Amino acid sequence: MTEQLNDIICHCSGTTYGKIMELLAKGHQDVTVLSNKTGACSGCGSCEDAILRLIDEQHNN
Ligand code: FES
Repeated sequence: MTEQLNDIICHCSGTTYGKIMELLAKGHQDVTVLSNKTGACSGCGSCEDAILRLIDEQHNN
């Protein structure tokens, strides 16, 4: 993964890659749960693909 942890994955909520990675590591692997916890995907929705990709990558590790 080339993104930095401090990079914003969701510009609507200001959620960083690092925040999503942290929640994934804690076992929150559902986009709805991640959205509820961070506000990601609750605005324009354009970050959903990137978040789904992180969830996928987590499963492949
Ligand atoms: S960028 Fe995440 S909802 Fe708009």
